Amino acid sequence: MIDNKKIIDQLEKSLTTFTYKSTTQNVGIVEKNTDGVVVVSGLSKAFMGEEVRFEEGSSGVILNLDEDTVSIILFGRGENITEGSTVKTTGKILSINVSEKLIGRIISPMGDPLDGKQKIKDGKQMPFERIAPGVVEREPVNTPLKTGVKLIDALIPIGRGQRELIIGDRGLGKTAIAIDAIINQLPQKGSKLPPVICIYVPIGQKQSTVAQVADKLREAGSMDYTIIVSATASEPAALQYLAPYAGTAIAEYFMEKGKDVLIVYDDLSKHAWAYRQISLVLRRPAGREAYPGDIFYLHSRLLERAVKLNKENGGGSITALPIVETQASDMSAYIPTNIISITDGQIYLESNLFNAGIRPAVNVGNSVSRVGGAAQTSSIKSIAGKMRLELAQYRELAVFAQFGSELDQATLGQLERGKRTTEILKQSQYNPLPESYQFLSIWAVTNGHLDDIPVESCRKFEKEFHEFIKRKYNIILDALSSGEKPKEEIIKKIEKAIAEFKKMFSP
Ligand SMILES: Nc1ncnc2c1ncn2[C@@H]1O[C@H](COP(=O)(O)OP(=O)(O)OP(=O)(O)O)[C@@H](O)[C@H]1O
Ligand SMILES: [Mg+2]
Repeated sequence: MIDNKKIIDQLEKSLTTFTYKSTTQNVGIVEKNTDGVVVVSGLSKAFMGEEVRFEEGSSGVILNLDEDTVSIILFGRGENITEGSTVKTTGKILSINVSEKLIGRIISPMGDPLDGKQKIKDGKQMPFERIAPGVVEREPVNTPLKTGVKLIDALIPIGRGQRELIIGDRGLGKTAIAIDAIINQLPQKGSKLPPVICIYVPIGQKQSTVAQVADKLREAGSMDYTIIVSATASEPAALQYLAPYAGTAIAEYFMEKGKDVLIVYDDLSKHAWAYRQISLVLRRPAGREAYPGDIFYLHSRLLERAVKLNKENGGGSITALPIVETQASDMSAYIPTNIISITDGQIYLESNLFNAGIRPAVNVGNSVSRVGGAAQTSSIKSIAGKMRLELAQYRELAVFAQFGSELDQATLGQLERGKRTTEILKQSQYNPLPESYQFLSIWAVTNGHLDDIPVESCRKFEKEFHEFIKRKYNIILDALSSGEKPKEEIIKKIEKAIAEFKKMFSP
């Protein structure tokens, strides 16, 4: 017997497919739903990066256009999307709703609130993918972005509009540096620099880690100018893949208004994993280390959007601090080499420094900032050069001195100075230092004022010296906060102050 109902069903299905194709052509039929990727037929007018809606309410974005089908990655889990369900295109490139109200919020890459507050409905639609501003719209980096970390501001200075990579193994303090940089954007008294809006984008991290960071930022008062765009490890790979684009779209909204923005991608290794996962499900051919071939292009397109616009275009900027995790310090792996070549320099953290108690565990020799020097304040510049040289000499001598050979007085002096400089460059977490204090510390050590202080007491010396100046010589702090190279009379005052302080300092 012929199953009438089945035939009628089939007829109906093909008829609907036919009507969709011939008239509206933007409704498709799901063919397959595997691991967050849905293959759909009938969407002949769809375009790459277009947002689509499923009949059961969830949405996704088109990532593959094949001859008869398109592949869509889902933002949610999509358990209810089955073979035969319908999909509609929206005619809209994937974008996020942005307004000033986002400041202080924690959201998902789709703009959904993750902090229990209301969703922001009004605002401007900013596209996830956009061509970066061209050369004529840009100007060279010329304004510093101070991280408050002495070692970075002095030796690896970052400028607004720069891309500086933070790279190192697990647990060496990569996030710590980025968070300190955000905390340091708290508007400071007397600073002439325009304020900075910060965007922190955790990708594939533990939910608890993100919550901790948010708490710390709130405690420091930094959520008043920060937005967190979070896709934790428990979210679908599609959301983790989209998170940096959502963050960048938000950053571009503020940059267009002439604001300076700092964006932290924490981290792009996990972003690459998420993209690898998606690409394998999309059956794109895998290349080196099983990453899809276009991962380099993907990251370069993303980081190219960090720019400093010129005056005619509003003068805004996006400074990007991408983070990359290495395995066993292997900087020559695929993703690290890619991103090193895309960025304007890297801050390299090392486990043997971390284990030796040096925090931040930055290897100064392997770290570099290729453009930020142009933006360094002249006050720090006037003392940083000497310190860089002394540190480089110290590193060479320290290796040599291990052989226990006889050393002359001058060499011994250099070694002792190096030890103290290393000590002064240590800095605790959540404790960014304003420019004036940084100057005092570096000036004191490079001018030999700590040579007669025991190495173990250097940090105590620094702390108490800062307190002393704050108590008694506020005028020095005021003079140093402008960022200009201090005049001779100020230096005289600091010399007098340090002599006075040393008389009462007990190591
Ligand atoms: N300057 C510092 N002073 C003291 N402790 C620090 C400092 N920087 C980082 N730490 C500590 O080192 C540990 C690792 O820091 P953090 O989480 O920032 O590293 P990470 O490289 O981001 O780690 P992961 O690879 O897990 O993301 C934390 O316990 C942190 O408190
Ligand atoms: Mg981290």
